[in-house]
Amino acid sequence: MYESITTDLLSFLQKSPTCYHAIYNVRRTLMGAGYTELSEGNHWSLTEGEKYFVTRNESSIIAFRVSRKDFTGYQIAASHSDSPSFKVKENPEIGVENTYVKLNVEKYGGMLCAPWFDRPLSIAGKLMLRKGNRFISKLVNVDRDFVMIPSLAIHMDRHANEGHSYNPQNDMLPILGDFGVKETFMDIIAESAKVERNAIAGSDLFLYSRTPGTTWGAHNEFISAGCLDDLECSYANFRGFLDADENEKSVPVFAVFDNEEVGSGTKQGADSTFLSDTLERIGIACGRTAEQNRTAIASSFMVSTDNAHAVHPNYPDKADLVNRPRMNCGIVIKYNANQRYTTDSVSAAIFKAICEKANVPYQEFFNRSDMPGGSTLGNISNSHISLNTVDIGLAQLAMHSPYETAGTKDPAYLANAMRKFFSMALKDEGMGSYTLC
Ligand code: CO
Repeated sequence: MYESITTDLLSFLQKSPTCYHAIYNVRRTLMGAGYTELSEGNHWSLTEGEKYFVTRNESSIIAFRVSRKDFTGYQIAASHSDSPSFKVKENPEIGVENTYVKLNVEKYGGMLCAPWFDRPLSIAGKLMLRKGNRFISKLVNVDRDFVMIPSLAIHMDRHANEGHSYNPQNDMLPILGDFGVKETFMDIIAESAKVERNAIAGSDLFLYSRTPGTTWGAHNEFISAGCLDDLECSYANFRGFLDADENEKSVPVFAVFDNEEVGSGTKQGADSTFLSDTLERIGIACGRTAEQNRTAIASSFMVSTDNAHAVHPNYPDKADLVNRPRMNCGIVIKYNANQRYTTDSVSAAIFKAICEKANVPYQEFFNRSDMPGGSTLGNISNSHISLNTVDIGLAQLAMHSPYETAGTKDPAYLANAMRKFFSMALKDEGMGSYTLC
């Protein structure tokens, strides 16, 4: 059973080289499953028993179902659509020595630089096309081995294996072609998108690794692919959301935000009003009072899902002394005393109960006490809309490499736990007392 969702995950990743493509693929699946698309710029009228979604910037999405307008609260799963990459700058072509054309790019997010070298890369993203007074977006994917960032030979840098710092402006620019290709980059982009070169008025273009995802290991224990952080969680949440039983008590909400890798502080990031606006508008469209909206938020629960670090076989001392996540051993609940992760006694207790009901194993993650570690979107989102939240993820290696590794069994664990989660409701009874039913 777990193999099939892992295979589906790999094919989703293959079709999702950028956040725009990931959201496009989620949107298409939702439309095929009978969801109605709402627009933030238009009036919302919601019907009991119907299901909806709304996107922002085509890179973030929130989908939900309204079984009954007198629901108790929201059951929310959040993840992020973006991954570290290199973004193509405007006027990107740089001629070198009358021999090469390379592309001017800048870093998006905090990637491991070394694995970007010496592997076939391509370019994908979003174009804005101008047609008279109208601007229309279109996705583009060159979808072939297109550019490459070659290493400097060991003979020219004898210290290459002694630790290296990479200068993004000098070391990380990919080769587009020989000198004859100058001024043709946007022609190739236009051709790939099947649009006129002159119609392109704006672009958001990113490099991505061409290496397809794979399953490997003595017993196929592992998967490797790009963007596992965080599309592995997005996809597993999505499957759980789609497969959940009808919920008459609460509103299941599936949310994916862009720009987590650069701090979430954009109009479509977790540090925006996207989630709070959407929940408020659901309440208004269901005819609820301001007070009923507040009681719904108090009785809501969010699972903030973003991948976690598995113990690394070559660096076992980088993990906490006791809480040492392993791949294929279930969902990782993430804790941090300084609240980089939202998990506390309340949300941990509730989430563990959900895992137990779903018969899904879980484990715990802390950073070593002498390592600051990363952060994620849960606490950022909570500063806009404050509700009980747990931070979880799936164990992986090589986070922020263009080719990451995770466990084959874990996507199914998360999908099963989320299916159970989306079928439940939480009631805040005050004074630290909650009921999950
Ligand atoms: Co992440």
